[in-house]
Amino acid sequence: MFLKLLIFCLSFFTIVSGSLTDDIIAGIRDTSDCSDCLSLLVSLQQLALLGDASFVELLDEICIAEGADDPDVCTGFLASTGPIIAHDLRSINVSITGDGTAPNRLCDAVFGFCASSFVNPFTVPLPPRTKSPKTVTNNEKREIFRMAHISDVHIDREYTVGTEANCTKSICCRNFDNSTSTPDIPAGPNGNSKCDSPVSLADSLLEAVRRSDSKFVIFTGDVVEGAVWLIDETEVTADLSDFDSQLASKLKLPVFPSLGNHDSFPVNSFQRDTTGNDTQWVFDTQSAGWEQFVGAKASQQVKHHSGSYAANVEGTNLKILAINTQYWYKQNLWLYDSDTFQPDPNGVLAFMVQQLQAAEDAGQHVFIEGHIPLGKEDTMEDQSNYYDQILQRYKDTIAGQFFGHSHKDQFEIAYSNYAEQTAANAVGVAHIGPALTPTSGNPAFKIYDVDAKTFEIMDVHVIFTNVSDSFFQSEPVWKEYYSARETYGPLVGLKDNEPLSPAFWHNLTEVFSVNETAFAGFNERISRGGAVTACDDSCRTTTICDMRAFRSENNCDGSSGGIGVREPGRHVLESECEGKRFVDIMLEISTNLKQNK
Ligand SMILES: *[C@@H]1O[C@H](CO)[C@@H](O)[C@H](O)[C@H]1NC(C)=O
Ligand SMILES: *[C@@H]1O[C@H](CO)[C@@H](O)[C@H](O)[C@H]1NC(C)=O
Ligand SMILES: *[C@@H]1O[C@H](CO)[C@@H](O)[C@H](O)[C@H]1NC(C)=O
Ligand SMILES: *[C@@H]1O[C@H](CO)[C@@H](O)[C@H](O)[C@H]1NC(C)=O
Ligand SMILES: *[C@@H]1O[C@H](CO)[C@@H](O)[C@H](O)[C@H]1NC(C)=O
Ligand SMILES: *[C@@H]1O[C@H](CO)[C@@H](O)[C@H](O)[C@H]1NC(C)=O
Ligand SMILES: *[C@@H]1O[C@H](CO)[C@@H](O)[C@H](O)[C@H]1NC(C)=O
Repeated sequence: MFLKLLIFCLSFFTIVSGSLTDDIIAGIRDTSDCSDCLSLLVSLQQLALLGDASFVELLDEICIAEGADDPDVCTGFLASTGPIIAHDLRSINVSITGDGTAPNRLCDAVFGFCASSFVNPFTVPLPPRTKSPKTVTNNEKREIFRMAHISDVHIDREYTVGTEANCTKSICCRNFDNSTSTPDIPAGPNGNSKCDSPVSLADSLLEAVRRSDSKFVIFTGDVVEGAVWLIDETEVTADLSDFDSQLASKLKLPVFPSLGNHDSFPVNSFQRDTTGNDTQWVFDTQSAGWEQFVGAKASQQVKHHSGSYAANVEGTNLKILAINTQYWYKQNLWLYDSDTFQPDPNGVLAFMVQQLQAAEDAGQHVFIEGHIPLGKEDTMEDQSNYYDQILQRYKDTIAGQFFGHSHKDQFEIAYSNYAEQTAANAVGVAHIGPALTPTSGNPAFKIYDVDAKTFEIMDVHVIFTNVSDSFFQSEPVWKEYYSARETYGPLVGLKDNEPLSPAFWHNLTEVFSVNETAFAGFNERISRGGAVTACDDSCRTTTICDMRAFRSENNCDGSSGGIGVREPGRHVLESECEGKRFVDIMLEISTNLKQNK
């Protein structure tokens, strides 16, 4: 290993000076806190100033020499995301540091250091209320309709039956190297827990949703599969369009889709409009692909508002507000290319306010949908806080909020006062929908029973298919896994006519904190019983803290785990949607460098 490293150091000598190479290698190996990381940025900035090619080549060489990942993964991943980081480093002053600055945020995103719950102070401009708050109640017999919620389909259109399902890459069941050896476990027709979804599994899901008697469907993003080192703009465009066609042909129901972090190239990359229009092709693709579902006006919004739109549900007093949450996602590496703090990249928050105000004026109710829920450590503390300000102002208009991304069946509660988390202070809840992809548990979707007058949520049903069933490969069977009302209602003393209000979800967290059995049931349901991991008392405390954190500054996730630091027991917290991240590659390089020292 030493020899290999020596050879590549020498071979690199001509392009990048040996001492800079040494500084960077030592930096990646020895960085152990935020200030080390900020110093490492100084060396990396010097490398970036030599150009994208040098930047990518050196990191690629180190990644391959250290065996941090398979060479094709190192090369593919760094070639696409490396230039964005190099651009960031050339665009910022790495000496202007401190909580909430670009260098600190960049260290958090790519090396897992300098995380903090600091929020750059900003007051979202909010029009004053002109109407008194609606107090719609419903004590009569409620009329109910159903709404289906699908998420994180991650369809692998190169899924190949008979290929190796037990591989070492982040997804398997693909003909990665045209291998002719006999697979340990051959990929079956309908999916495998180590692989993203075959087209047949997505068809099966959409047919189950079609039969579910739902009035309409929301889709909270992530179409593209997880082989992120192999994708390009052509593939992502085709994947998005193919799924739009699949939705249209299989569902035959109104559908309101939204964009996920995987629905771009490079993965997670949504360029800010202050930098350029590199991501406009995504919005153009979906403006065209979604017009059939959301209409001409919303389709124009998708194009001109960076993927966000609002559309009314026909025959109801309900408006769907679909937002692009990716400008608040820490792994969107375009967010670190300016020393000037931008409170509202691409005006997503302003668009929300405009749409919510119009709904308030019109006496409409709003369901907000987006990909990434606001409460986890992977969301910027800043915009998470600003979104919460909007929620506090429009809580009487916002009747529901729906997200995906974690692949898990979860919820997050918002409070009027986060220092006093009580049922009386609970003002909103984010419903997080489980994934179709079998990589993080059994494939599932949610169905909500919605009051047709107040748009309160009366029940949440999780419908799943069990990948371990003997007949799964011939015909997935979708059945109800549980109903939140039936399972949790009795634990909190929910009355017959009461909705599953934010207060209900808060009271459920109170039950979880004292009733181990009830919490164990929740822990199992997170993955639809498909990927259950033990959660001890301290994990339970953290998990409950996170349920009460609609804002990311309030979660108990701690840092994302810097290079060289792997926090045990974080399974319930970490997002499974992130796939391969820059920080993961850096962690592997750092670990291997330490071992080979
Ligand atoms: C970067 O910021 C430091 C500290 O404010 C300042 O002294 C330096 O001149 C700045 N560098 C550039 C290139 O602007
Ligand atoms: C596999 O074989 C096909 C057809 O010969 C070829 O186009 C492709 O590049 C090969 N893939 C790999 C990863 O070798
Ligand atoms: C899967 O692969 C690992 C090594 O990569 C091996 O240890 C394991 O036995 C394989 N599993 C099966 C069921 O073949
Ligand atoms: C991006 O902006 C450039 C320059 O204004 C323009 O030529 C190009 O067509 C734009 N690209 C897209 C996808 O809109
Ligand atoms: C939540 O618990 C509080 C305190 O026990 C109780 O007053 C309230 O009615 C409960 N609310 C719901 C919706 O369960
Ligand atoms: C705890 O929860 C379980 C169900 O998960 C329930 O059967 C049991 O009655 C609860 N215990 C108490 C004391 O409420
Ligand atoms: C899925 O099927 C397996 C095998 O039959 C069974 O052991 C498991 O309990 C099932 N899981 C659920 C959540 O029903």
